[in-house]
Amino acid sequence: MKSQQKCIVIFALVCCFAVLVALIFSAVDVLGEDEDGINEENCSRDCKAVLVQNIPDRIFISHEDTMPLTTGLESLLNRARKSVEIVSPLWALNSTDHWSHYTYGRQGQHLLKELMDLKSKNVHLRVVYGLQNNTIAPELKLLSKYGAEVHDVNMTALTTGELHSSFWVVDRKHMYIGSADMDWRSLSTRKELGVIIYDCSCLVLDLHRIFSLYKQLQYRDFVPAIWSKRLAALYNKEKALSFQLNGTNTTAFFSSSPDKFSPKDRNRDLQAIIHVIQEAREFIYISITDYLPLIIQNSHNKYWSRIDEMLREALILKHIEIRMLISCRQQTHPLTSNFMWSLKSLCMEMSNCSMEVKFFIPWLLQDGSLIGTNHHRYMVTDKSVYIGNFDWVANEFLVNAGTGLVISKAKDERSFSLGEQLKGVFERDWQSTHSKTLQPSKIPTCSTNTVFPSPLLKSQKSQTENENGPNASL
Ligand SMILES: *[C@@H]1O[C@H](CO)[C@@H](O)[C@H](O)[C@H]1NC(C)=O
Ligand SMILES: *[C@@H]1O[C@H](CO)[C@@H](O)[C@H](O)[C@H]1NC(C)=O
Ligand SMILES: *[C@@H]1O[C@H](CO)[C@@H](O)[C@H](O)[C@H]1NC(C)=O
Ligand SMILES: *[C@@H]1O[C@H](CO)[C@@H](O)[C@H](O)[C@H]1NC(C)=O
Ligand SMILES: *[C@@H]1O[C@H](CO)[C@@H](O)[C@H](O)[C@H]1NC(C)=O
Ligand SMILES: *[C@@H]1O[C@H](CO)[C@@H](O)[C@H](O)[C@H]1NC(C)=O
Ligand SMILES: *[C@@H]1O[C@H](CO)[C@@H](O)[C@H](O)[C@H]1NC(C)=O
Repeated sequence: MKSQQKCIVIFALVCCFAVLVALIFSAVDVLGEDEDGINEENCSRDCKAVLVQNIPDRIFISHEDTMPLTTGLESLLNRARKSVEIVSPLWALNSTDHWSHYTYGRQGQHLLKELMDLKSKNVHLRVVYGLQNNTIAPELKLLSKYGAEVHDVNMTALTTGELHSSFWVVDRKHMYIGSADMDWRSLSTRKELGVIIYDCSCLVLDLHRIFSLYKQLQYRDFVPAIWSKRLAALYNKEKALSFQLNGTNTTAFFSSSPDKFSPKDRNRDLQAIIHVIQEAREFIYISITDYLPLIIQNSHNKYWSRIDEMLREALILKHIEIRMLISCRQQTHPLTSNFMWSLKSLCMEMSNCSMEVKFFIPWLLQDGSLIGTNHHRYMVTDKSVYIGNFDWVANEFLVNAGTGLVISKAKDERSFSLGEQLKGVFERDWQSTHSKTLQPSKIPTCSTNTVFPSPLLKSQKSQTENENGPNASL
């Protein structure tokens, strides 16, 4: 009799312990999160999208039908009624650079001010950022004084990588995703591209799940083995969301990285990129900062073929026209042009094979800073648009956290205005005087482009000189 009681007690203890372990190693949220009463059935699917760009003042490329980035972000803040949720790899809106104060720092300071003002409008600000060197940015210290909820994620402990995700969720119905982050350079000196989508709770609910996942990683030094059902993806490439974007039938889904941060049904960024390349039938235009199919390790580097092989297949077997616009700057890996040349030479002596590569060259100022670095991370094809947070360098996909959005033309739908607009953006950049064609057997000298006087002397310079573009030798 006694031993039976003992047994029961031990059994109960073991059960308690098992439940406790399960809770510790999973991200099951005990309290559950309020989703504002909106669910997948009654969310809104009649959405509008605008492309947003930051084009620095010395880069003479027109905005045409896209919106300036600062205008776009302000429009989101003006619409906010309840919450603004921001993920950014870096917070540096209040520049402390010696020269940027005069002209280029203002937009960042203005945005910071507007984020501080959210409290007075009863709008709750939540921020997720990646802990770097165990320090918190002064901007975030300031915002938390103004009521912001700040969640840091220790990526070093979780994946040995960094958080590179950059997106906004506003009232769980509007969103931004793109290359720009909360850095004053994104609003002034860097060339950025993103998309803002309004009144689209069906889509934004899913992006909010990625935000919630990051939030759950605060204070953790390991990734949960089991994710809460509330963090599982709502849509993916097999089951994309069907909705109306500017009145046309469209499909979309989000992707995320790395593998460890992908709960049930969520596609990885790599899967999304491969999907978009495989679906293309006519052209693939890619604009990115860096392209490097290499895993860079301390001891030895390894070839990483995942994206490279897809591009080769598209070129040789499917005769799809490919154009790549890559950023050229001091940090550009010297092997970049070798890999580009290798892709290009695939088409040698082959009709119906078209691969073109150009480098986008920024202005170099006397103090060593750059104006107009192409910071884009997008791809556009005849079928889809992919806007992500990563450079196309192997290490990014393996350990860093990032998010991407794939928007595709629906089956049987004729028009795809977002894709056409983005193609237009690509073509304007491609034809600009800053874009220089890759030359055979010649490594571009990305670090020695024209020195331009510091911005303080700007008014003394005639505009015609600027319009000729930097005379870099490639
Ligand atoms: C959506 O549906 C849920 C549950 O079915 C309900 O609680 C909620 O009030 C609905 N929301 C709206 C905006 O209709
Ligand atoms: C921005 O930085 C400057 C110089 O460090 C400082 O004086 C100013 O107070 C900062 N602005 C805000 C809003 O914190
Ligand atoms: C972190 O510290 C390292 C070494 O001290 C430094 O090189 C790096 O720039 C720092 N990163 C940031 C974001 O402060
Ligand atoms: C983040 O993780 C690293 C590696 O585990 C650790 O050294 C560091 O102290 C952690 N930082 C914080 C603030 O917990
Ligand atoms: C868009 O999709 C809806 C439902 O899937 C369909 O009824 C409608 O005809 C489609 N519109 C166009 C222009 O194809
Ligand atoms: C070129 O490719 C297109 C599309 O795949 C195909 O229709 C056409 O026949 C090809 N032309 C030649 C000369 O191979
Ligand atoms: C969608 O509509 C908005 C406003 O009506 C317009 O500004 C925007 O350029 C349109 N976007 C696309 C991709 O056509």
